[in-house]
Amino acid sequence: MVRLGLIGLGQAAQILHLPNLERMEGQFKITAVADVSRELCGYIAHKYHVEHSFVDAMELIACPDVDAVMIMCAGDHADYAKAALRAGKHVFIEKPMTLDVEKAKELMAVKEQHPELVAMVGYCRRYNESFLKMKELLRQDERPISYVRARTMILEGPWYLENTWQEKKAGDLDPAGRAAMQQAAAGEAIRLLGNQPGRAQILAFLLLAGSGCHILSAVRELIGLPKAVRTAVVSPNGMQFTLILEYDGFNMVFEEMNDQKVVDFDESIEIYQGTRKMHLRYDSPYIRSLPSRLEVSELVQGQAKVSTYGPDYRDMFANEVKEFYRCIVERDTPKCDIFDAAEDVKLFLDIARKFAVS
Ligand SMILES: NC(=O)c1ccc[n+]([C@@H]2O[C@H](COP(=O)([O-])OP(=O)(O)OC[C@H]3O[C@@H](n4cnc5c(N)ncnc54)[C@H](O)[C@@H]3O)[C@@H](O)[C@H]2O)c1
Repeated sequence: MVRLGLIGLGQAAQILHLPNLERMEGQFKITAVADVSRELCGYIAHKYHVEHSFVDAMELIACPDVDAVMIMCAGDHADYAKAALRAGKHVFIEKPMTLDVEKAKELMAVKEQHPELVAMVGYCRRYNESFLKMKELLRQDERPISYVRARTMILEGPWYLENTWQEKKAGDLDPAGRAAMQQAAAGEAIRLLGNQPGRAQILAFLLLAGSGCHILSAVRELIGLPKAVRTAVVSPNGMQFTLILEYDGFNMVFEEMNDQKVVDFDESIEIYQGTRKMHLRYDSPYIRSLPSRLEVSELVQGQAKVSTYGPDYRDMFANEVKEFYRCIVERDTPKCDIFDAAEDVKLFLDIARKFAVS
């Protein structure tokens, strides 16, 4: 039994992870929770029968009844992750791990001193079954890639959650605290970007690291890092950007928009390989347990053929926490570990430094 401590009890904890962790009774036992909101701590501790509850996350990390820590709070996660590893705890870090290349390096250095511990990053899209099928089909086929198109054009969570399953909000926090955190995140982005970035560039960087990271990281698993960032253009309000990334022999286009008002969650990866196109679509993670699908269009002996893999109902969030557990008990390394995520930290900063406002 792995005794688990949760830091941050908001949307990610309540909607994405707690329902799966509860079903892993016998593998995980939640022994401690921490949130700056006392009210949320009390609510979750009562609902899930959790023994220890803290408003200071460092106290949770030090708690002797905790073997592994899940970091799901707002803000940069590297410092809590380092503290957890130093305290001898396995750690699951929700994305983004950090925006800061130097913090990523420090975290990797601490991890190297603790090879016995698991340090996993929550890139859920990479544990989606249709994604894994796409990767398998790509590996089995020699056809060269001619083009990759990916996007994250999303209506964010509040609309879906209002209409499906609303998480409990903290009622005891001063709204000024949230504003201060947003201010701090912008200040950190300004420091990291250098050269007095404009507002659109800052917002697009936070968007890229916060939600674009899912698909860009998934694409990196499929086809590796790009050779160069050719174009990075952001809209004046910072809420939409388009990238052209150069690979050996082909380009990839990635587009993200995060202020759309249409009720649509349009997140996908398309890989063109001459006579074949694979198209993976992700449905909204806010409505739980939607199936995923992979569509493969091919020209076979002059005939058009479309094959669909799925619908697959296995939940990517369940898959990733099961993988966290498996790696802990089998002393294995997850594919999405901190060394893997550090590749993204550098890539995202490289991209964001190139953002030009349209
Ligand atoms: N994998 C996914 O699809 C996915 C989806 C949503 C969020 N996330 C990630 O999960 C994390 C949290 O996002 P969220 O949507 O749950 O945000 P949220 O604002 O709903 O919840 C964050 C919680 O952290 C608490 N908190 C803030 N600072 C804290 C601190 N220092 N110590 C303890 N608690 C603290 C807040 O009070 C709040 O309850 C982010 O890193 C986000 O990127 C991932």
